[in-house]
Amino acid sequence: MTLKDKVVVVTGGADGIGRALCRRFAAEGAAAVVVADINAAGAEAVAAEIGGWAVTTDVARESDIVHLVKAVIERHGAIDLFCSNAGIIIEGGVETPDEEWDAIWSVNVRAHVYAARAVLPGMLARGGGYLLQTVSAAGLLSQIGSAPYSVTKHAALGFAEWLAITYGDQGIRVSVLCPQGVRTNMLMRPRPGGESFLMAGAITPEQVAEAAMLGMAEERFLILPHPEVAEYFQRKASDYDRWLRGMRRLQAGVR
Ligand SMILES: NC(=O)c1ccc[n+]([C@@H]2O[C@H](COP(=O)([O-])OP(=O)(O)OC[C@H]3O[C@@H](n4cnc5c(N)ncnc54)[C@H](O)[C@@H]3O)[C@@H](O)[C@H]2O)c1
Repeated sequence: MTLKDKVVVVTGGADGIGRALCRRFAAEGAAAVVVADINAAGAEAVAAEIGGWAVTTDVARESDIVHLVKAVIERHGAIDLFCSNAGIIIEGGVETPDEEWDAIWSVNVRAHVYAARAVLPGMLARGGGYLLQTVSAAGLLSQIGSAPYSVTKHAALGFAEWLAITYGDQGIRVSVLCPQGVRTNMLMRPRPGGESFLMAGAITPEQVAEAAMLGMAEERFLILPHPEVAEYFQRKASDYDRWLRGMRRLQAGVR
């Protein structure tokens, strides 16, 4: 799929990877770029910059996503590409309180379900549509130091696979964007243990947007802005126990 003349929605579009996607889609000649974010001022700023439209949206609330989709269809007739990009991270393991598990589950997983539930009827009626889900390499591998992020990103990947299997023959395309470290607030925020080891290989949000464009042009399911992730994923599949030993060594080294 190419972006020219398409109507596109990007959640988490006010900052980081989402903002880079919005800018890139506008530069590619999208008919409309809708910047949906819980940060109203940030969304307005990006929309003003690219000639897009800001819709304040908390993706954790289904009513917000229903309103977003309805408003875009009323204004632009249809949605060609919906990017479920908004995501959050929290550090922690088994001790993480239930409320925090619920919060990250809502944004990283349930929001993707809400979006699909809201956009699929229109897309299926038109015989096609595209869903780009920003997951993470953590959805294929793991996230050192964060059980909630690892689990929710695996779940988001599982949901995207299921969508691709279930609706692929009805014209629905699904891609998952799975970078490792990206230079955004999420990675560069102050952390108790200091800078993340992922900073070493971190790429820019613009590089992620470039990879997303190339992947969607080929309508590839798995989009890997860090090509080495394909090799790590293969190693995991071919010898899980060896891969786990390697991950333990990595964890010990980054403490
Ligand atoms: N930065 C990385 O290293 C990295 C790596 C792999 C995957 N990702 C994923 O990329 C996506 C974007 O992350 P980023 O790095 O650009 O982070 P970011 O923190 O820079 O931007 C996230 C954006 O999402 C918005 N947001 C957060 N909660 C929201 C909610 N409930 N409703 C609507 N908007 C909300 C924020 O306001 C912000 O504008 C996330 O899904 C993240 O998990 C990031």
